[in-house]
Amino acid sequence: MPVKPANVTRFPQERPTPVDPGGAPELALDIQGLCKTYPGTKRTPAKRALQGIDLQVRRGELFGLLGPNGAGKSTLINILAGLVVKSAGVARVWGIDIDRDPRNARAAIGVVPQELSIDAYFTPRETLELQAGMYGVPTAERRTDAILEAVGLADKAHAYARSLSGGMRRRLLVAKAMVHNPPILVLDEPSAGVDVELRRKLWDNIRALNAGGVTVLLTTHYLEEAQELCDRIAIIDHGAVIACDTTRDLVGRLDRKELYVAVEERMTVVPAALAALGFALGADGRLHVAYAKAETKVSRLIGAVQAAGLHIADLETRESDLEDVFLTLTTHADTTGDGSAEHAA
Ligand SMILES: Nc1ncnc2c1ncn2[C@@H]1O[C@H](COP(=O)(O)OP(=O)(O)O)[C@@H](O)[C@H]1O
Ligand SMILES: [Mg+2]
Repeated sequence: MPVKPANVTRFPQERPTPVDPGGAPELALDIQGLCKTYPGTKRTPAKRALQGIDLQVRRGELFGLLGPNGAGKSTLINILAGLVVKSAGVARVWGIDIDRDPRNARAAIGVVPQELSIDAYFTPRETLELQAGMYGVPTAERRTDAILEAVGLADKAHAYARSLSGGMRRRLLVAKAMVHNPPILVLDEPSAGVDVELRRKLWDNIRALNAGGVTVLLTTHYLEEAQELCDRIAIIDHGAVIACDTTRDLVGRLDRKELYVAVEERMTVVPAALAALGFALGADGRLHVAYAKAETKVSRLIGAVQAAGLHIADLETRESDLEDVFLTLTTHADTTGDGSAEHAA
């Protein structure tokens, strides 16, 4: 997918490098066996939100954590951010164990939360200055205006936050997360509640930050977003990683195409010769078949339909996208029994 490099906002070149490159770790995030069980209450049973997550994000990557609602994405991020206490496992942020040195682990990461929580009574400029103060960034090292510029809020620097649109609020949260210049930026569902045009802008911001050397981890349940932005994607479901691969390989893993054929004849059963090739009859009356592009030529399938004495009225083919990969993988995960056991518990 072509990524247009034009028009992206960048931080000024002279900005300080987040961490001495000599001391920069190979893995920005190193997570092993991470588990989280939220304790139950009188009314609700305990919830196993994460069941042994292994995940490595390399320095400089734009990494996507993709999964449906309730998969455990926010839980994972909140553990890294020091907002949720894990039940088991090890997590290293920029080489720093979150148990051994929680303060420095937190300092290495900037988190943009899922909820659009901003203080309505401060201007974006004040919000960033306050945040910088909280992180102990010396006044001389603050980059408030450069950051506002980078997220496209320079002209809103003195506006009240309550007057900002949803997209602007999200970008203000990105700015806030970048104030202490962390080498890792984590975004939890950055596109939630952001309209299409602003989403593009936000994606440009994220790409620009990544191009400037920031490692990015984002969660999303938008397949399009993961496919568009991320170098690698981990798919998470029911608190477990069910796939982790480069975006291209993940999509390519399913070398699957579908052919739909409408014929002039009315059919109630699929002719045996076609059934043998995997054709089935859809609810819409069309014949359809899934095939591997590498193995089967579509002309052979069409030829078989004609050889069965049928007259083709219309044809349609469909390529698999990430959604198919996701559906296949999550459906498979459910049939292993792990998923259903989790639900039953
Ligand atoms: N504070 C909490 N207490 C109890 N259960 C929670 C809490 N936060 C999340 N959960 C549960 O943990 C699971 C994972 O939630 P979450 O991490 O928010 O998933 P996601 O961000 O992928 O939608 C869900 O079943 C959710 O209901
Ligand atoms: Mg979430």
